[in-house]
Amino acid sequence: MVNFSANGTADGQTWLRRAVAADAAGDVVTAERAFLQALSCDGGLVDARFGLGVTYFRSARYGDAAAELQAVVSAGAADGTTYVLLGKSLYLIGRFSASVEAFELALRAMPLEGDSRRCHARARTYASFIAGKIDEALTNYPALAGIEAEPINIVIRDGFGLLSAYGHRDAAASLGELLLAANPDDAVQRHLNDAVAGRPISGVPPAYVEAHFDAFADGFDDKLVNVLGYRVPERLATLVRRHHASFVHALDLGCGTGLAGEYLEPVVDKLSGVDLSARMLEQAARRKIYDTLTHAEALAYLAKHPATFDLIFAADTLIYFGKLDALMAAVAQAMTAGGLFAASIENAMNDFEILPSGRFAHAEAYVTRLAEPHFELLKREATDIRLEANVPAKGTLLVWRRR
Ligand SMILES: C[S@@+](CC[C@H](N)C(=O)[O-])C[C@H]1O[C@@H](n2cnc3c(N)ncnc32)[C@H](O)[C@@H]1O
Repeated sequence: MVNFSANGTADGQTWLRRAVAADAAGDVVTAERAFLQALSCDGGLVDARFGLGVTYFRSARYGDAAAELQAVVSAGAADGTTYVLLGKSLYLIGRFSASVEAFELALRAMPLEGDSRRCHARARTYASFIAGKIDEALTNYPALAGIEAEPINIVIRDGFGLLSAYGHRDAAASLGELLLAANPDDAVQRHLNDAVAGRPISGVPPAYVEAHFDAFADGFDDKLVNVLGYRVPERLATLVRRHHASFVHALDLGCGTGLAGEYLEPVVDKLSGVDLSARMLEQAARRKIYDTLTHAEALAYLAKHPATFDLIFAADTLIYFGKLDALMAAVAQAMTAGGLFAASIENAMNDFEILPSGRFAHAEAYVTRLAEPHFELLKREATDIRLEANVPAKGTLLVWRRR
């Protein structure tokens, strides 16, 4: 029980103690609330600011963590640990030069070891890549990372992903060329290079989809659900179930590992899944929920199943199609009249845009315009799709009825 008194500082200390106890017990929600209460009682409590920074860091809210830790620095109360955590937070939001500065201040107080040294070395290397000094950065990396040095191809590959995600397209494009030169048959890298360079692309090559998801299948569920906060299958299924209680034959289009299966199973008599990635389908099969799972390209599969499904469910699948005309028409012809089509999109300003991630975002107006001849829109709902570069990618869930 926290007692408020006329003395704001005393109350702040009480909240601070409660926050520290909650933090020690691993109760992040209570800790955050109590740290905030402590600061609302006494904004000068740097221990509460530091604690809040740590709590945000643990909750993967790296931008918020950096702001709190920066406030500790501004209050003149930062020690080596504060600078290390600040350096890591800034790295994780793509502010590599600022991260280097924080790590260098930490180095005045303590040596950097383990993942702190690795993070500092990477931050310096990526800051140099952004400055166009790629050869120099690659030469300097081993000495900088010392015994923590990682294989250079991993540093480059991760650098490509991070620099793309944080909008440093020129630097990412240069790294992408290095990676492709080392492995010219790499369909995944070729597509990502095209995306980063902004080359006109109207669809994701099937070879990319297959290679990317075959490689990703084992860790897909953990990464998407636990790391990136992906909840689209559950949210989209909830919207569908609000409009119709049961279905005769549903198709999970681009079913992947079958994350949607458990949400669809209670309302469908028969559930089919189709996907281009055999490894993703293997994961889906393990769930023992789907009646049929087919390894095929979506358009080809739909063409072979006219007037078959009364639910077509496409969670995070349209992002692998740029132009949607053919897909919309193929979905429509594969459905029975009155059936539902449910899909998620990532939001864009233009009709469709290739993102540095290699996926497509679409304008809702574009998607609804293409759907209009075949479908009546029943529901749209804004949502966060997943974390992208540690911030939520904004998207929309859509449910239509086949006319
Ligand atoms: C981001 S995953 C989403 C998987 C699943 N729907 C979910 O929500 O977890 C996209 C899936 O679509 C599949 N995919 C992409 N393009 C495809 C296509 N043209 N035909 C069939 N499957 C495709 C991929 O192989 C991948 O498994």
